Amino acid sequence: MQSKELYNKILESNKKWVAEQTKKEPDFFTQIADGQHPEYLYIGCSDSRVHANEIMGLKNGQVFVHRNIANMVINTDLNALSVINYGVEYLNVKYIIVCGHYNCGGVKAAMENLDYGILNPWLRCIRDVYRLHQDELDAIEDKNKRYRRFVEVNTYEQCLNVLKTAEVQKSYYETGYPRVVGWIYDLHDGSLIDLEIDMEKELSKIRKIYDLTKGKRK
Ligand code: CO
Repeated sequence: MQSKELYNKILESNKKWVAEQTKKEPDFFTQIADGQHPEYLYIGCSDSRVHANEIMGLKNGQVFVHRNIANMVINTDLNALSVINYGVEYLNVKYIIVCGHYNCGGVKAAMENLDYGILNPWLRCIRDVYRLHQDELDAIEDKNKRYRRFVEVNTYEQCLNVLKTAEVQKSYYETGYPRVVGWIYDLHDGSLIDLEIDMEKELSKIRKIYDLTKGKRK
């Protein structure tokens, strides 16, 4: 189908969806419009093949979402940091999930020694992850296996970046939430793999350098 024809069908499809949804749950839209109380904040890749609600089997209103190239949590990115702040302080999410995925184009680009123009600063943050895990990654001879492992360690590092934020540290020590978890989505079979990050252990390491729970500088 031509892309223009496909585009024209979108608004038609929306009408169909509204009708079906209203038939299934007559007060669906009234309830949704009332406010959101999601328990999960999902930070994932912008990749068109990886959709938070779909892969988690959750409905509208159940997951607060932030996506960017290669699911990065960069400490000067006001967008990601605002989402985390709002999610923790106002929505009181119980889990922050950083979800990487195999076959990630952003991670792949970071593995290539090429100049990507405007993308370079973003890719540099991913390349910095490679440098942190260089010994392990360089030792993997098979390029595809190295690529997969790079996706995993990148997701792990972004979980640590979430743990470095003041609001996450404060909320966690006051309430026991949010819990920060790292997942990998496997595009080949649709499965989610839990990286089983030991949050307590990571936090205790992180707090030696990044502890922000002792109050503001006077
Ligand atoms: Co990706």
